[in-house]
Order: sequence, then structure tokens, then C-alpha cells
Amino acid sequence: MSHSQSKSVTKAWGEVKQSAVKNRNFQKNGKNSSDYQQALSGLNATEYQASQTGIYIENLSFTYPNSDSAILKNINLTIHPNEMIVLVGENGAGKTTLAKLLCRLYDPSQGAIIWNGQDLRSLPLEDLRSRIDVVMQDYARFPTTVRENVAFGNLPKIQDDEAIREAIAEAGLARVIEKLDHGLETLLGKQLEGGIDLSGGQWQRLAMARALLRLSPAELLILDEPTANLDPKTEHEIYNILRSLAKGRIAVVVSHRLALAKLADRVVVLEHGQIIEVGTHDELIALGGQYHLMFTRQASSYN
Ligand SMILES: Nc1ncnc2c1ncn2[C@@H]1O[C@H](COP(=O)(O)OP(=O)(O)OP(=O)(O)O)[C@@H](O)[C@H]1O
Ligand SMILES: [Mg+2]
Repeated sequence: MSHSQSKSVTKAWGEVKQSAVKNRNFQKNGKNSSDYQQALSGLNATEYQASQTGIYIENLSFTYPNSDSAILKNINLTIHPNEMIVLVGENGAGKTTLAKLLCRLYDPSQGAIIWNGQDLRSLPLEDLRSRIDVVMQDYARFPTTVRENVAFGNLPKIQDDEAIREAIAEAGLARVIEKLDHGLETLLGKQLEGGIDLSGGQWQRLAMARALLRLSPAELLILDEPTANLDPKTEHEIYNILRSLAKGRIAVVVSHRLALAKLADRVVVLEHGQIIEVGTHDELIALGGQYHLMFTRQASSYN
């Protein structure tokens, strides 16, 4: 991918996040997100349950504009309500591309993505994106205070120190932030006068804190390489955070760290734009195919 392409993708991801934040002028008030969605949808409980059929990806193929080779080929997959899927596969397999199609940054060249019975193309874009939260590989590093970096996930909570500190603690950053001279008011980013920089892993945890504070009614959570900058020895802490973020919604997590795949309800293995294996970690290990190979290779490189 060229530099300018990668920039425009990053920008597009940013736009998804912004529109999600813009649309989130509602609060949870202690209800879980499905209660909230039920209230929003105006359906009674039975009707609401019946409408929650998950995501159905049907015969999907995709070619980027200005390109002539298909990046995703004939993808068929059903993601059940509340399911956590981990997408694995080698570099360039098409994982991020599939995630982008789920947010409707692009439309399929063939086939369709159906969410709770509706084609994504039939849903108003702003509405669709308000139902999705994204934490991505190129997660945002805002050159501003710790407080704002976290509260950009949920602006009505910007003065709620307790909520901000709780999100920071859950993301495993409490000790780092406590040590800073100006606490939540510390400026982050070397480009700012007096600003301090964080390590890659600390920035990533801050992005998690932002997502946690959002406590959003989002129904679909997409995480692209949430552990990319984390030390493999400490990343298991993040897994618990991921689990709590994913609770009560569909989560699609892209990861090269196969230890994370063990947490998933199901693992989907992509190779050259095609799904080659789908199943639980145990099923795929027993299958003795590509996932088994990747997992054994990775396990031995960590020892
Ligand atoms: N905007 C784009 N235009 C054209 N081709 C693209 C674009 N973005 C990605 N690609 C190509 O699509 C293919 C799949 O890329 P994608 O980013 O989906 O892979 P991935 O599985 O996420 O890889 P990685 O593990 O490295 O993140 C690659 O060959 C990539 O070069
Ligand atoms: Mg990727």
C-alpha cells in the first residue's frame, strides 16, 4: 500500500469514529446496550429479539477502486448476536479490508452484508456508523491532555474524573498517569510545548480507555490489531479488557496474536482473500490445518 493510500484509509477510519462520536448524544443510564437499542427501535422484547439475527456476509467479493485484482473472494459468513470473532491470516490476506466493508467504508463489488435482516446499503450511513465502534491499528493519538484523549470517546463525560480514572485504570494505565506531574491535565504529544510522549503500548492502552469510557450502545465493535504495540508478556491483561468491551455486542477483532484467538467464540482464517477455516480454537487445532500451523509456529517463537 502506498503512503498516500494508507493516509486516506487512516482518515476514513477517523471519519467513522467521528461520526460515531457525533451521533452519540445519548447516555446509557445504567441500561445495557441491548435494552437501549430495544427502546430506540420501538419494538417490544420479543420483536426485538427476533430482529437481532446478527450479520450475514453473503457471497461477498471486493476489488478496490482503481485496482483490478479481487482482494476478497466469495466470502460467506454468519456472525451471531453477541459473538466475538477473531479474524486471523497473513499480511495482506484481506482482514482490514473486510473490517472496512463492515463499516461501509466501501461497498461490496459482489454479494452483500446483511445486518439484522437489512442490507448495509439500505441503512442511512450516519445511523449505521453510530451503531459501530472502531479501535484500529492506526489508533488516534490526539496532541492534547490525557483527559481529552480519553473523553473523546464520550464528550459528556469530559468533567467526570471518576469515570475517566476508572477507564484509565481498567486499561492498565493508572500507575503511568498517577506519576505524571499534571495528572489528567498532562499534555501528550512531543509536538506540544511541555508535552510528553507515551510508548506505543501506552498510547494503545489510552485508545482502549477511550473505548471503555464510551460505554456505548454500539452493537458492533471492530478492533483492528488491538495488541499490535503491546509486549507479548503483558498483553494478556488487555484480553480481559477486550472481553468486557465485547460483552453484549458483536465484536470482530483482527489480530496476529493467536493467543487472542483462544478467547474468541469463533476464529475465521483468511488466506488470499478467502475464508479457509472457521471454528473455535479447539476445533481448528484439532483440524490440523493452517490455523494449527500458524498457532504452533507462533507458540514456539514465544518460548
Ligand atoms: N486502499 C487500497 N487500495 C488498493 N489496494 C489496497 C488498499 N488497501 C489495501 N489494499 C490491498 O489489499 C490487500 C489486503 O490488505 P488488507 O489491509 O486488508 O490486509 P490485512 O489482512 O489487514 O493485512 P495485515 O495483516 O498486514 O494488516 C493487500 O494486498 C493491500 O495491498
Ligand atoms: Mg490489517
